[in-house]
Amino acid sequence: CERQEGQPLKQRLLVVANRLPVSAVRRGEDSWQLEISVGGLVSALLGVKEFDARWIGWAGVNVPDEIGQKALTKALAEKRCIPVFLDEEIVHQYYNGYCNNILWPLFHYLGLPQEDRLATTRSFQSQFDAYKRANQMFADVVNQHYEEGDVVWCHDYHLMFLPKCLKEYNSNMKVGWFLHTPFPSSEIHRTLPSRSELLRSVLAADLVGFHTYDYARHFVSACTRILGLEGTPEGVEDQGKLTRVAAFPIGIDSDRFVRALEIPQVQEHMKELKERFAGRKVMLGVDRLDMIKGIPQKILAFEKFLEENPNWRDKVVLLQIAVPTRTDVPEYQKLTSQVHEIVGRINGRFGTLTAVPIHHLDRSLDFHALCALYAVTDVALVTSLRDGMNLVSYEFVACQASKKGVLILSEFAGAAQSLGAGAILVNPWNITEVAASIGYALNMPADEREKRHQHNFMYVTTHTSQEWAATFVSELNDTIVEAQLRTRQ
Ligand code: G6P
Repeated sequence: CERQEGQPLKQRLLVVANRLPVSAVRRGEDSWQLEISVGGLVSALLGVKEFDARWIGWAGVNVPDEIGQKALTKALAEKRCIPVFLDEEIVHQYYNGYCNNILWPLFHYLGLPQEDRLATTRSFQSQFDAYKRANQMFADVVNQHYEEGDVVWCHDYHLMFLPKCLKEYNSNMKVGWFLHTPFPSSEIHRTLPSRSELLRSVLAADLVGFHTYDYARHFVSACTRILGLEGTPEGVEDQGKLTRVAAFPIGIDSDRFVRALEIPQVQEHMKELKERFAGRKVMLGVDRLDMIKGIPQKILAFEKFLEENPNWRDKVVLLQIAVPTRTDVPEYQKLTSQVHEIVGRINGRFGTLTAVPIHHLDRSLDFHALCALYAVTDVALVTSLRDGMNLVSYEFVACQASKKGVLILSEFAGAAQSLGAGAILVNPWNITEVAASIGYALNMPADEREKRHQHNFMYVTTHTSQEWAATFVSELNDTIVEAQLRTRQ
């Protein structure tokens, strides 16, 4: 623990995630520029201030030379970040391959890769080996920086092998693991060739956390059905050792969004947007350009709505922010072309000389511009085919205190369990239903909007990322104490 002048003791926390909250761009032999990374995990953890935290992860860049590595390590230290250096080959096999081409689609119910099954099967083992090697490299860095009493919090599907590696170094280390994606039904997980090894590695942790009760239940069933272990209400038991398994729904730093709306720069952005889209209702989608986000389905639903409601054609605009991601993976490249093709077709079909129905941007927005956009939006569309939680829905709600816009939310996003009562829930695969929901949202009376918004606003501003992290870490500390008591009995 660290005592800062006049401050209470803060628990030391080592956050380990594949990606650091900042990505590095090289500007010279020994100079680096750091940029905030995108994604729900980063957005949630940046708001967590009550720990003396260090972040260990990959800076998203290959740094083969020692001068570059030293300079980057120094630049990152100022942000309390510690880099894990991964070379190009390992990034290709571990990150593009095993993480993003195998685990990510599988955990989102898109199955194992279908094309060229034989090639996939042949390369599967080498990708899994690279995955384990990469996890071991993360473990080495954690071990170098670990001090007795630290809590080590491992994040996400990239690091399922990490708890085991860490406990092999030091069985007294307090290790928690949290998954930011869904954990699928055991019937899906059992198709994975390395299913048992991964489950056993995760079980080496003291506490295993998920966004929802369903994901936790799927994990426990997988351990029961695949490993033959006993599932208890507390977790999973293996030869007298209990791994506690529970749901810890993540949140956002809602104050940061609420306060941002007071900033003059944000208000200026809002004014510009209102002028630009005067006389039209604004619909908004903000997603990483990922197949799980259901962007093509969303746009097709919007097309259907325009088709069926000619009176709305010049009165509504869809702004779709699609942040490029994992651009080295062929599936993501295909998706980008597919989305561009659909947007082009619809704009050609319904656009006029002065206006188009869809504004599609392949890039991220800075925080101020994003808050302004959330605040002027009438209807937000979150139509993920599967999503661990989806914090865009939370961010939208946090920025809607005055407008009280409507959230259309996929029932397959974890957020449906927390914001379901205030949002319009949809099956994103059912384009007719989503189109009808767009009509319902655009015509919703003010009192109904107000009621729905209040429900969600209350939830988002009370279930914050700070509370999420504090609950997880405190439960991890309790889990250790309980285990010690059990051993003494
Ligand atoms: C999701 C994952 C995160 C990941 C983020 C961005 O939110 O749960 O672990 O960092 O996507 O994806 P990327 O592959 O760019 O890190």
